[in-house]
Parts: sequence; structure tokens; C-alpha cells
Amino acid sequence: MRTYRIALIAGDGIGKEVVPAGLRVLQRAADITGSFRLEMTDLDWSCERFVRTGAMMPADGLRILEDHDAIYLGAVGHPTVPDHISLWGLLIPIRQGFDQYVNLRPVRVLAGIESPLRNGSRKTVDMLCVRENTEGEYAGVGGRVHQGSPNESAVQVSVFTRPAIDRIARYAFERARERRRRVASATKSNALQFSAVLWDEVVARVATEYPDVELTSYLVDALAARFVYAPESLDVVVASNLFGDVLTDIGAALQGSLGLAASANLDPTKRHPSMFEPVHGSAPMIAGQGKANPLAAIWAGSMMLEHLGERAGAELVLAAVERVAASGPKTADVGGTATTDEVAAAVVAAVG
Ligand code: NAI
Ligand code: MG
Repeated sequence: MRTYRIALIAGDGIGKEVVPAGLRVLQRAADITGSFRLEMTDLDWSCERFVRTGAMMPADGLRILEDHDAIYLGAVGHPTVPDHISLWGLLIPIRQGFDQYVNLRPVRVLAGIESPLRNGSRKTVDMLCVRENTEGEYAGVGGRVHQGSPNESAVQVSVFTRPAIDRIARYAFERARERRRRVASATKSNALQFSAVLWDEVVARVATEYPDVELTSYLVDALAARFVYAPESLDVVVASNLFGDVLTDIGAALQGSLGLAASANLDPTKRHPSMFEPVHGSAPMIAGQGKANPLAAIWAGSMMLEHLGERAGAELVLAAVERVAASGPKTADVGGTATTDEVAAAVVAAVG
């Protein structure tokens, strides 16, 4: 029996509702398969903690996380704390500090869920978005000068490096080999003549090592449109940090609700723990009311089991998510009236 140490960061708002829901399902999968155990460390890292102590996480936060096999995160964010504090005080240090260079987001319309696309279905919307997660537009390089004066200025510099583009492209091509063998690369080489041209060159170079996978480069604005009018033409999508961030929210919208979109922040080398989270935020407007859809967090939990090597458990959980999406109960965001706990209980039962 394998034991995995999981660091739990439920965070703020609905994070505190969907993470316990996800845990119930994961524990059930552990019981049913009988092949692994999950050992949890509950961490109160959040905006609430920031208000109390002045920091989202302790100074040695990464060292604490390092002792774990994976991190399961809800969401952080509170209306009283500026979003750049919650992002730069927790999420980005973890993603960059642990070199979680792949942000992976499956975009798939589940049976029984209505996509806002007229013909959006499981057949037409089934992609895997691979977003670079450590540099690019979110490298954090820059500064502000003349603050408060009429000449106030800000510089935010993108950083694109050959090794980081190479490894994210390679990851995308590898995953494409398990799917429909197509990679769409998001670029903007017409306007960004330095960074995006380097991106294109490196991606094209990697593509020569994968002759069985078809590469198409799209300008990111055209690709955004393609997500909507021809999603069936897209299989694996690889993009820089900012482009991937924006494109994957379109993807989440196509799925019918943010409450269904899951993501993983992966260090594929497994030198550091990877982090699994729903795409959505803390949704303060519905927090504490039992209205949050837990399926995105549960799906993220399935991705966690897969990364840990528990394929059978991962498949059980995902199949249970699909069954409940198809036959209900459903939360309000996908047209139902059920509570978070009722949906979670249905998924637990569907696991077996
Ligand atoms: P949000 O994802 O929290 O909410 C957007 C909309 O989707 C809202 O109408 C919300 O009610 C709905 N929604 C989201 N998740 C849902 C779920 N599971 N079930 C049902 N409905 C759901 O994004 P928003 O409002 O832009 O941000 C709120 C806070 O969350 C901010 O402080 C933001 O910085 C933070 N945030 C944190 C993220 C993270 O921790 N990874 C990601 C995105 C936002
Ligand atoms: Mg985003």
C-alpha cells in the first residue's frame, strides 16, 4: 500500500467548500482501490491569514510543502486583499519555486452539461491546454518609477528562454502522442518580433523530433476565435503564460461553467511537489452558501492521483465526475438546485 503526503491549502471563499468535497471523493477512491493512502497536512494559508499575520504563507512555506508528494489547492482571494498580493504571496512563488513549468488544463464538455456553444459537445470540444507556468509575461521582472507623480510609469518585462520554451513544447508534443497527434501553438510573432519569434523557432525545432505530430502555429487572437468557431480542430494547445491564461478561460467557458474546469501545475521531473487546483477563484459572492460546484476541484483531484501514478483511482474519480455531470444532482451554475455537499455525496457514491 502506497502512502502519499498531501498538503492541503483550501484557501479562501469557496476553496474551503470544494476542497473538503474533493477530499471525500479522493478518500473514497483510496478505499475502493485499496492501493494507496492519503495523509493530509491542513494548511491555513490564505488571505485570511494575510489579514491576521501580514503574510499569505510562512516564510519557510516552500520548505514545508517540499516534504509532500502533492499540493491540493482550493482558491485564494478576498475582496479586502489586493489580488496581486494573493497571487504573488502564494500561487506564483509555489509555481516558480517548485519549477511547476506545466500548467495543464483539460477542456472537455461533459455529457449532460450545456456548453454555451450551439454545437458544443463532447465530440466537438476536447482539448488539452498546456500553458508555460514559470516565465514569459508573468516572469515578475519590472518596476514602477515616479509613483504618485504625473509621470508615473511602469515597466513589466516578458522573459522567454530557449530551455523553458523547449521543455513546454516537448511536454505538449508528448501529450499529443497520447491523443489526436496535433499541436496548436499560440503565437503573436507579427507584433512581438523578439519573444514570440523565439517561441516559434524553438517550438518548430522541437516539432522536427515529432514527425508523427502535426504542428500548426496560430496568432493568439485568431486562436481565441478558433476556440469558439472550430474547437473540433484543436487537440493539444501550447501557449505562453499570459496567452495560456486567457485562452484557458475561454476553454472553461466552453465547458459550461468555471465550476467544471480543472488544472494542474506540474513539475514533470517530480523533483518538487506538483499542485492541483480548480481553475476558478474564491467566488466571494457565493461563498459560504453551499452553492459552489465541487466538480472542478474533484476533477483536479483526479489529475493529482494520475500524477502520483494512481491511474486506477484517477480513472474512477473522473468517471464518477462524468456520471454525476450527466445524471445529476447539479449545482446552480449548471442548471440545478443541489448543494456542494449533495453533489460531492453523489460523486462519492458514483466512485463505488
Ligand atoms: P471566480 O472564479 O471566483 O468567479 C467567477 C464567476 O464564476 C463568479 O460568478 C462565480 O460565482 C462563478 N464560479 C466560480 N467558481 C464556481 C463554482 N465552483 N461553482 C459555481 N460558480 C462558480 O473569479 P473572480 O470573481 O474573478 O475572482 C474572485 C477571487 O478569486 C479574486 O480574489 C481572484 O483574485 C481570486 N482568484 C483566485 C484564483 C486561484 O486561487 N487560483 C483563480 C482565479 C481567481
Ligand atoms: Mg486565469
